[in-house]
Amino acid sequence: MTPPHVLVAHGSKNGSTAEIAEWIGQDLRESGLTADVLPAAEAASLDRLDAYDAVLLGSGLYAGRWVREATRFARRHRHALARLPVWLFSSGPLDSSAEERDIPPAPGAARVAALLDARGHTTFGGRLGEDARGFIARQIVKQGKGGDFRDREHIRRWTRSVAAELTRATQGI
Ligand SMILES: Cc1cc2nc3c(=O)[nH]c(=O)nc-3n(C[C@H](O)[C@H](O)[C@H](O)COP(=O)(O)O)c2cc1C
Repeated sequence: MTPPHVLVAHGSKNGSTAEIAEWIGQDLRESGLTADVLPAAEAASLDRLDAYDAVLLGSGLYAGRWVREATRFARRHRHALARLPVWLFSSGPLDSSAEERDIPPAPGAARVAALLDARGHTTFGGRLGEDARGFIARQIVKQGKGGDFRDREHIRRWTRSVAAELTRATQGI
């Protein structure tokens, strides 16, 4: 039986959600699925999503919103996405809160979840480093409030549970 083919699309201004998406791609492949990882702008320019059995879409959070490319992808492909199983992930909190409790979707992510009738949403910790773009970002780092709060194990656990659900669905179990 052909394994489910998954698109992992990401909106990322400073690269940390892009890296999470690559980790998710690796974890899906380790679970026996096929995965393509694409920036949301590139995914938005695809003509169709017929090649995929499921989509995982994520974005970094900026003032409670997703980055524009990620929402644009969701809107542009909303009809195809509404017919596919879709899971969403946000990356944001610059503290350990995402590891301590389930953080409900920020308003921007909640709007995308409603638009696509997503199966689930999770929030991972974020990262803001010396290389961050933008004045506010650099101020945050200068004040010592940056750092890397992404938890590789959290991401792996979540991806494995999505992979298991998808595999069950395609095998009709
Ligand atoms: C200007 C600015 C606004 C932010 N707003 C939020 C926010 O509303 N909620 C949140 O959890 N994190 C917020 N963050 C943290 C980022 O979401 C975090 O750094 C994330 O990992 C960035 O993802 P990216 O590197 O993929 O762009 C903000 C960061 C900056 C610089």
